Amino acid sequence: MTKITPQPGIMEIALYVGGASHVEGVSDVVKLSSNENPYGPSQAAIEALRRASFELHRYPPTDHAGLRAAIADIHGLEADNIICGVGSDEVLQFVAQSYAGPGDEVIYTEHGFSMYPILAHAVGATPVKVPEKDRVVDVDAILAACTDKTRIVFIANPANPTGTLLAEDECARLAAGLPEGALLVLDGAYAEFVDGFDGGAALVQARDNVIMTRTFSKIYGLGGLRIGWGYAPRAIIDVLNRVRQPFNLSNVQLGAAEAAVRDVAYTDKCRADNARLRAWLGEALAAHGVESDPSSTNFILARFGSAQEADDCDTYLKSQGIIVRKVAGYGLPHCLRITVGDEPSCRRVAHAIGQFKGGAR
Ligand SMILES: Cc1ncc(COP(=O)(O)O)c(C=O)c1O
Repeated sequence: MTKITPQPGIMEIALYVGGASHVEGVSDVVKLSSNENPYGPSQAAIEALRRASFELHRYPPTDHAGLRAAIADIHGLEADNIICGVGSDEVLQFVAQSYAGPGDEVIYTEHGFSMYPILAHAVGATPVKVPEKDRVVDVDAILAACTDKTRIVFIANPANPTGTLLAEDECARLAAGLPEGALLVLDGAYAEFVDGFDGGAALVQARDNVIMTRTFSKIYGLGGLRIGWGYAPRAIIDVLNRVRQPFNLSNVQLGAAEAAVRDVAYTDKCRADNARLRAWLGEALAAHGVESDPSSTNFILARFGSAQEADDCDTYLKSQGIIVRKVAGYGLPHCLRITVGDEPSCRRVAHAIGQFKGGAR
């Protein structure tokens, strides 16, 4: 018997399952399973990436000063309170690694993003799942679940895969009600899709127990490049920077992200296109008898009559070359999560669901 054993919690981790991108035997495939920007990144980001490729022999800066300044500039934040990571996943990992360990509890919600329990297990902490109310984060349920062992509460706002938004005053009530020593993480991966929403930045500024994370993978169309950031009180940023590897982001990542965040016109256009097509898709699905909650993101959580119907619809969509996301693993077996694609993709998925509901199999 080997004496080489992993740390506590590691073997509890259920491997993260990403969105599929192929269908066996089908060539004209539309991928609506990973909430990607269907238009790709800003041209300015692609140009910056090309320029950065001439510097591949140089180590990147360790302080990310240029990117942090750009983020601070555009969002009206303090650059010193920003930390950048390899996707927001890495920033979330810094938080778990720095603030939770064996014996501690990490709260996430019923349909919360699957990385939260993974991160808790990875540091040996105990993930605690709390119910939601009609697919919306329930502040009272979270506060009731807090104990003196609670160290982190992870919430995505807007949430994935439900697409719902927790009101700002509810976030503030949650932050104010947490036990001393517990941190609230507001994961704003989809915050840019909500017009005029700061993702919780003002709450971070007002308190000492709130962290906000953001990503370049969604509205900025840079999921393949892996860049995210966090905004937190200075004392917390100082902690997180101690576990961050100095060269975690390359020149290419830094250059592209800086150009992307500064291209406000492109981001605004993506937000507007998404809002228009999301409304259209929601109505088209409803016309076919498929309900959904108002979404604050770039996807719609389509609700079917049963898990069987959702499964059958997924199979039919695949046969038509359309890949959406099954979310049974998120406690939503009767639902499919459908990314808002470009207009032809939205029309194609709505048409196929109409055919399915009309009896096509
Ligand atoms: C709620 C939420 N948080 C974080 C992430 C991770 O994003 P990133 O690509 O920045 O690691 C995702 C990605 O799907 C997400 O949906």
